Amino acid sequence: MASAMWLPDSETKFMSQPIGPDTIVRDAGPADAAAVAEIGKVAVPETYADIITDASVMKAIVDQSYALDALRDCIVRCARNDDAHFLVAERSGRIVGFLHYDCEGPQPELHRIYLDPQQKRQGIGSALLKELHHRLPPGSSYILMVVAANQPAVSFYEHHGFVEAARVDGVTYIHENMGVGFPPGMPEVLALILHFTRKESR
Ligand SMILES: CC(C)(COP(=O)(O)OP(=O)(O)OC[C@H]1O[C@@H](n2cnc3c(N)ncnc32)[C@H](O)[C@@H]1OP(=O)(O)O)[C@@H](O)C(=O)NCCC(=O)NCCS
Repeated sequence: MASAMWLPDSETKFMSQPIGPDTIVRDAGPADAAAVAEIGKVAVPETYADIITDASVMKAIVDQSYALDALRDCIVRCARNDDAHFLVAERSGRIVGFLHYDCEGPQPELHRIYLDPQQKRQGIGSALLKELHHRLPPGSSYILMVVAANQPAVSFYEHHGFVEAARVDGVTYIHENMGVGFPPGMPEVLALILHFTRKESR
């Protein structure tokens, strides 16, 4: 079984239970940064293909969000903090998805959850999210931002019990919260702030 062959490195907090015969969710380590970046470079343009049509803007977003050094630093920071989680889903020894959550901003936030597009709708996103929720203290809550037109993701979050808390301009939000720079005159993109509260009992 893949999980039995995997050994945690020194930066890894712990390994979670396997979610299927060939799939596990575990903490990311710095050596996973390249595989995570590869997924981000494919999944982000695919997700927003109909929403962000300017190729240079898309490239700028991906380049800034998935630069290897920044990604490695982010993974290491999450590994060192009890209230941050950078998780990867690994299928047959290959990384097929990831999730990044931390408490560095004004509110705890799920910043990204992306799968290899070939692996969608097989329960892997749910497995990543469930592992995060398993780790959060009962009663804790967090937010995330989702582009309103990203209907599959909105449905996914509704399925998991998220509720709408606010509507914002996604471009301003990403600029202010993630430091991504956009060219002047970028049109607004309607986005939803969704809220999740973990039940009191485990
Ligand atoms: C969103 C994402 C993480 C969901 O992960 P996933 O593994 O594909 O989703 P799951 O198989 O766990 O789906 C669980 C439930 O969510 C809902 N759901 C998931 N994808 C859906 C879709 N395309 N359309 C409608 N509902 C969907 C369904 O209720 C589904 O249950 P069901 O399959 O029994 O009907 C994944 O599809 C993805 O990476 N999408 C592109 C990136 C993205 O949009 N990320 C979020 C940015 S905010």
